[in-house]
Amino acid sequence: MNFQWYPGHMAKAKRMMQEDIKLIDVVIELVDARIPYSSKNPDIDVLAKNKSRVILLNKCDMSDQRYNTAWKEYFEAKGYFVALVNSKSGSGVKQVQDIVNKACEAKIERDRRKGILNRPVRAMIVGIPNVGKSTFINSFVGKASTKTGNKPGVTKGKQWIRLSKFTELLDTPGILWPKFEDQSVGLRLALIGSINDNIIDTTNLSLELIMILKKHYPEVLTNRYGIEKVEVEDNLKGASKVLEKIALKRSCLLKGGEPDMDRAANMIIDDFRSIKLGNITLEFPSDMKDKAEVSKSNKKEIKVNTENVKTDIIEVEEKTEDVKTVEA
Ligand code: G4P
Repeated sequence: MNFQWYPGHMAKAKRMMQEDIKLIDVVIELVDARIPYSSKNPDIDVLAKNKSRVILLNKCDMSDQRYNTAWKEYFEAKGYFVALVNSKSGSGVKQVQDIVNKACEAKIERDRRKGILNRPVRAMIVGIPNVGKSTFINSFVGKASTKTGNKPGVTKGKQWIRLSKFTELLDTPGILWPKFEDQSVGLRLALIGSINDNIIDTTNLSLELIMILKKHYPEVLTNRYGIEKVEVEDNLKGASKVLEKIALKRSCLLKGGEPDMDRAANMIIDDFRSIKLGNITLEFPSDMKDKAEVSKSNKKEIKVNTENVKTDIIEVEEKTEDVKTVEA
């Protein structure tokens, strides 16, 4: 199985973002704390070159606290200003203003030296679909803010939200598309529910999850599903044996008493998404070195005209010769 994302509006969104980014000082990028690597689009690093950068690890209420801290440190070491946020409850949102201020200190100082005083810092929220941009903006902005409307020198039609005397936020977030540089990125995005399930093989999805759980959260499989520790290989075949055991244990059976793998797969995915498996992170900073190497070797990009292609994710066959990967 292989995924490709064919985004019809991607080129347009990218152009808009390029225009918007010229107007702003700081990019606030939301990633999903369960998959900070796969939910981050590397294009933003080029688009936001020379801007102050903030990363918010959103949905940190769903991910593993231990790795939240590890990921925060990972991004900080790369020069980002980072916060852990639960936009839904509002937890961690208040500190974002301080972080934005810190991220902009150098810029404010540069302005001051040029004699520009009290010019508000302009910020923009970006992130892939479903990462929580709207929820965050609602929580961050609250009721106290006012829309500033069009201003001289600012592109007509842009709405800015005054957050404080010193900060303004562009009211429309920038949408980034995830990059499917390797298959596991697609699978992980699907696991967190960022990609429509109907087009994805649920069993494969659950096997990816089982492989991660087996390696990083083995007790979850034994505690939740009551299966005894299974000594199987660390591959799809091994994961498939685990899924079979779960199906049997949970009486997910077909008519003849055979394990119903699809039903068991759906159950385990639902359990993950509804946090019944506990707080689980699917990616780890310690894997990032390998990841960079894999991505490099897997990268086969053919440019296509993105204006006329469907906005959808389609499943394509294993054979890679004909696969067109869209580069944003
Ligand atoms: P987007 O603008 O980036 O596309 O994302 P949006 O804010 O619409 O959020 C997508 C889903 O993620 C929403 O759930 C939202 O409630 C949820 N969400 C956002 N931030 C957080 C968070 O920090 N923690 C948790 N647990 N969930 C978060 P939904 O099911 O689509 O809508 P709803 O039923 O919650 O209203």
